[in-house]
Amino acid sequence: MKKYQLDLTVKGVERLGGKYALITLTDEKRLPEMLPGQFVNIRIDNAETFLRRPISINDVDYETNTLRLLVAVVGEGTKWLAERKPGNTVNVLLPLGNGFRKCEAANGGVLLIGGGVGVAPLLYYGRKLAESGVKPTFLLGARTANDLLMLSEFESVGRVLVTTEDGSMGEKGFVTNHTALQNERFDYISCCGPKPMMMAVAKVAREKGIDCEVSLENMMACGLGACLCCVEKTVKGNVCVCKEGPVFNIKELNW
Ligand code: FES
Repeated sequence: MKKYQLDLTVKGVERLGGKYALITLTDEKRLPEMLPGQFVNIRIDNAETFLRRPISINDVDYETNTLRLLVAVVGEGTKWLAERKPGNTVNVLLPLGNGFRKCEAANGGVLLIGGGVGVAPLLYYGRKLAESGVKPTFLLGARTANDLLMLSEFESVGRVLVTTEDGSMGEKGFVTNHTALQNERFDYISCCGPKPMMMAVAKVAREKGIDCEVSLENMMACGLGACLCCVEKTVKGNVCVCKEGPVFNIKELNW
């Protein structure tokens, strides 16, 4: 897919809970086609941050010509981004990476599992699946109820199941403990979140013979396959996650 470097305009920034921000960007021209699971790389125009920040695509709406990014504000780069005001411009490289698979033939159901801010790319993916007639089940995990993000939006797209580590919402524990994952039949799982969570989900998928994709969040810089800082060992050798991923079938990974 063709890649673009665009100065997008900030339409709004909404703080979600303490450390999360939902940034809406737009452009005068129609935004380029973007696939669920792809990401953007944002230039941070402050004095402290030299590398762009890779951020997964949370949602794209071509009717309103908006792109949404959900970020955890954890450092100077994401702080800068969350402090943008409507009308500011942000330099964005997009769309990058491969994206989730087109998933039409899942008779037993599609389960999209997200942990923490890793839920971000699953909203656009779930929306695209629903538009194509595949209603997804979301299984969203977080430490506490306050860390569960965009629940009503997920509920508008599919069935939503929840786990929290402290039991403040949904089933207590980790996503891999949820009764639906234990007892229901799914043909396909897609997962995004902290690596230990994805590895645990991959283990369950292997044991149950469920086809499974995960979205890796390796450290990135260029986002274009040039700097080699995002390399992951796979069954095909070392590959750049930014170019060959970030989405991989677990069969491709040495996990
Ligand atoms: Fe530079 Fe992947 S981020 S090669």
